[in-house]
Amino acid sequence: MLDHGAAPTMTPQRDPGGPAQGLGSRLMRRKPVEQLVSEGGQGEGGTLRRSLTMWQLTMISIGATLGTGIFVVLGEATPLAGPAVAISFVVAGLTALFSALSYAELAGAVPVSGSSYSYSYATMGELIAWVCGWCLVLEYGVSVAAVAVGWGEYLNELLDGTIGVTIPDAVSAPIGEGGFINLPALVVVLLAMVFLMGGAKESARVNTVMVVIKIVTLLLFIGIGFLGIKAGNYTPLAPLGVTGISAAAATLFFSYIGFDAASTAGEEAKNPKRDLPRAIMLSLLIVTVLYCLVALVAVGAMPWQDFEGTEAALAQIMKDVTGQSFWGVVLAAGAVVAIASVVFAVLYGQTRILFAMSRDGLVPKVFARVNEKTGAPRANTLIVSLFCGVLAAFIPLGELANATSIGTLFAFGLVNVAVIILRWKRPDMNRTFKVMLFPVTPILGFGFCAYMMLSLPGITWVWFGGWMAAGLVFYFLYGLRRSRLATAEK
Ligand code: ALA
Repeated sequence: MLDHGAAPTMTPQRDPGGPAQGLGSRLMRRKPVEQLVSEGGQGEGGTLRRSLTMWQLTMISIGATLGTGIFVVLGEATPLAGPAVAISFVVAGLTALFSALSYAELAGAVPVSGSSYSYSYATMGELIAWVCGWCLVLEYGVSVAAVAVGWGEYLNELLDGTIGVTIPDAVSAPIGEGGFINLPALVVVLLAMVFLMGGAKESARVNTVMVVIKIVTLLLFIGIGFLGIKAGNYTPLAPLGVTGISAAAATLFFSYIGFDAASTAGEEAKNPKRDLPRAIMLSLLIVTVLYCLVALVAVGAMPWQDFEGTEAALAQIMKDVTGQSFWGVVLAAGAVVAIASVVFAVLYGQTRILFAMSRDGLVPKVFARVNEKTGAPRANTLIVSLFCGVLAAFIPLGELANATSIGTLFAFGLVNVAVIILRWKRPDMNRTFKVMLFPVTPILGFGFCAYMMLSLPGITWVWFGGWMAAGLVFYFLYGLRRSRLATAEK
C-alpha cells in the first residue's frame, strides 16, 4: 500500500517526440506512458491509497452499470422489440464488448486513474485527450444526474407501497415536468458524497454491499418470474422485425454504460496490471448474463404489449406472479439500492478522472488535492457532487440520458482508436491483456460506436456541439498554457 503522506515530487517530462514548437505541436504533445504510470496515485499534498482487490474492482464496475437500465429502461425498450428484447440486450452488449476489450488492453498496459482520458493522452496527444476527458464528464458527471432522477421515481414507488404516501410533484420533479425541484435526486447524490469522503477502501465496502443487494434482487426476480412464464408470450418472437430489435438495442445501450468504471480506479488498485482487465471483462459478463435472463423471464411472464405505460414493470410482474403486493415492494426496495449504487460508483469515477486531469494541469489543482487523513480527494468530491446534485435537481431525465450516451460513445470510440495507435507505436509494451483478432475487433468497436452516435436525435448533437465548444474554449484559455507538459517545455 502506498503511503498517503507527502507526495513525491512530480517531475514533468517532455514528450520524447522532441521539443514542442508552434500551436500544432503543442496540441499534439503526448504524455509518455512511463510518466503516466510513474505518477500513479500522486496528488497535491498526498497520494491515493492502493487498497482495491480484483473483486472490489469488479464490484465498482458492476456498481456503476447495473441500475436504471434494467429496472426502468427495459420497460421502455420492450414495446419496441417485443419478446426479442432479450436479443436486443445481446446486440447492445456486443457494442459494449468490443469497446470493453479495448478498455481491458489499455487498462492492463497503462494502469492509471484517468480511464480513456489518460489512454488518449498517451496516444493521440493533449487536445484529443482533453476532448475525451470533457466527454467523460458527460459519461460520468451527467449520468450521475440522469440516474439520480430515476432513483426518485423508484423511491416514490417504495414509499407508496410501504407507508402509502408519495413525495409531492412540486419537490420531486424539475420545472417543465410539473414541479420546481427534484429533491430526492439531490439527496441521493449528497448521500453518495458523504460515503465517498471516507476514501476508496471504505467506499468500496459500501459499494460491495449495495452490489450484492442488487444482484440478489435480480436473482429473486428471475426465480419468482420464472414460475409465471407462459410459452405463448414468446410468440411471435420479433413482431417488429429487425428494425425493432435495433431500436431497442440503441435504447438499451444505456444499461451497459459504466462497465469501464474500474479503469478509473487504476491508482487505487493493489495489482492494477493484472486486475483491471479481469475486472472489466468479468463485470461485463456478469451484467450481460443477468440482463438477458431478466429480459427472458420478464417477457415470458408478461405479454410484451403490457409493458407500454407500465412504469415499474419488474415490480408489477412480481406482484402478478405471486398475487402479493409485498413482492412488488421488495423489488422496489432492491431498485432503490441498485440505482443509488450506480450514483455512488459513477460519482467515484468522475472524481478520479478529474483527479488525473488536474494532475496534468488541464483543470484547476483543487481536483488533485488529497486529504491526508482519508487518502480521498475530498474537495474534488464536494465540487463534483454539488455540480451533479444541481443538474439532477433541475434538469429532466430524458435530456440528461441522451447527453450521457453521446459522450460515452465518443469516449469509447477513442479508446478503440487508442488501442490501434499504441500497438503500432509501442509494440514492445508489456500488455497483460490483448484484444483478440486485432485490428478487426477495435475497428468494429469504433464502427459500432459511430453508428450508435449517428442514430441519436439531432437535438442531442446540438447539445453535444455546444458542450464541445465550451470545452474547447476552456482548454484554449486554461489548459493549453497550464498543462504540466507545457510547463516542462519552458
Ligand atoms: N448503466 C447505468 C444504469 O443503467 C447508467 O443505470
